[in-house]
Amino acid sequence: MTDSSDKKHNRRNFISATAATLTASTMVHSATAALPAEQPLRLAVVGCGGRGTGAINDSLTINSGVTLVAAADLRVGNCQQLVKTMSKAHPDKVSQNSTKLYSGLDGYKQVLDDPDVDVVLFATSPGFRSVMVQAAVQAGKHVFAEKPVCVDAAGYKLCTESHNTAVKNKTAIVTGTQYRRQVNYIEAVEQIQKGTIGDIINVTARYCTSGIWYRPRKENMSDVEYQLTNWMHFIWLSGDQICEQAVHNIDTFNWIMKSNPVSAYASGGRFTRPADSEMWDSMSVDYEYPEGKTVSFMCRQIPNSQAANDNVIYGTKGTCQIGASNSGSRIFDHNGKKIWEKNGKIKDAYREEHRALIQSIRDGQPIVELQQTADSSMVAVLGRVAAYTGKKVTWDFMTTESSLDLFPKTLTWNGSLESTGWAVPGKTKLV
Ligand SMILES: NC(=O)c1ccc[n+]([C@@H]2O[C@H](COP(=O)([O-])OP(=O)(O)OC[C@H]3O[C@@H](n4cnc5c(N)ncnc54)[C@H](O)[C@@H]3O)[C@@H](O)[C@H]2O)c1
Repeated sequence: MTDSSDKKHNRRNFISATAATLTASTMVHSATAALPAEQPLRLAVVGCGGRGTGAINDSLTINSGVTLVAAADLRVGNCQQLVKTMSKAHPDKVSQNSTKLYSGLDGYKQVLDDPDVDVVLFATSPGFRSVMVQAAVQAGKHVFAEKPVCVDAAGYKLCTESHNTAVKNKTAIVTGTQYRRQVNYIEAVEQIQKGTIGDIINVTARYCTSGIWYRPRKENMSDVEYQLTNWMHFIWLSGDQICEQAVHNIDTFNWIMKSNPVSAYASGGRFTRPADSEMWDSMSVDYEYPEGKTVSFMCRQIPNSQAANDNVIYGTKGTCQIGASNSGSRIFDHNGKKIWEKNGKIKDAYREEHRALIQSIRDGQPIVELQQTADSSMVAVLGRVAAYTGKKVTWDFMTTESSLDLFPKTLTWNGSLESTGWAVPGKTKLV
């Protein structure tokens, strides 16, 4: 590694926050000058792990006139690996010799200072997303931000500010909620909204899967290095499964309900996680939406348990099932007869988000959709907080009064950082 300066970081010096007015906008196009077709767009990626590699590959595959010019990661070896792989896959768009590599906790700042970078793809662990995206927007870069975009109330506020600043400055922000661009999701939501299943009565949604990775601590690793490496298991970095993974379902039902929920009441616990993981194994959340409609949501990661990943919308005239990944969407009438179906491929959706981002910049109509993904990420936080505290928690409280800020007060690569441990309902405080 990496952050040789061993400089101290906190949420404030990761970015210099700007005050901004909140808006209720979801996806916005703010017109600006179109780019000449021949002008190349220069990409950089921050976070060169599994998804960073996947996202840059999607962009380079689907778009012409783009090049990779910089890569940043905590570890330079991850940058090198990504560039090597991409230069083999896309020799016309990536040069192994000239792509700039930046490493350490400050690497992303060097990307943002680089005048040769037009578009930055962020795929680090989620805890950094809101601060990095805000810094990118302030630097005038176009952004692709993987989901989730925030894991606490402080991050949500930064996202709202960044959304508004990007709209004002006419720079793009597309987010990694790929199901919004998957054909069977889009058409199922259209069917629901045109009344094919009648009025929505309620929704059930599940993201239940088996176990996930754990990266054990190596000798001589500082607390910070260990937590950054084993990020899924520390809530300030991942937000727990409900944020990191299940935000896909939450984003889908928020889209269908055309609203954020009013409140959440939840339960869950942990039985199988490694001893030092802060994560829970499972959570069940009842989200109350306007007009008393309930979304009954469940997520679980337990080895050898049965997987289920879908959204089922019950209406007065029928039922719509929207299956995750490549499992398609279907509508049944009340006699169980299938009256509509559509298949779609997740791989196409992953590419479509990058096509849409670049096209919107080229057309001078930059897409800004951060607020809708910030809302979905915050709905995940709301459910987690309700589960962790054992209280019914309102959306208004979490978005206007909560002081929940999980980002460490200081962060240095070699520093100490005590784990908060796992939450215990009835003991964990609502803040
Ligand atoms: N849209 C999807 O379907 C999808 C799928 C997988 C992952 N993701 C998201 O992508 C993100 C990354 O997940 P992943 O599976 O690639 O994880 P990963 O552990 O494979 O990669 C994360 C990379 O980010 C780097 N990193 C962490 N903090 C950094 C920092 N401050 N500065 C620079 N680099 C930093 C790490 O060193 C690592 O290389 C997560 O938010 C995850 O939820 C989305």
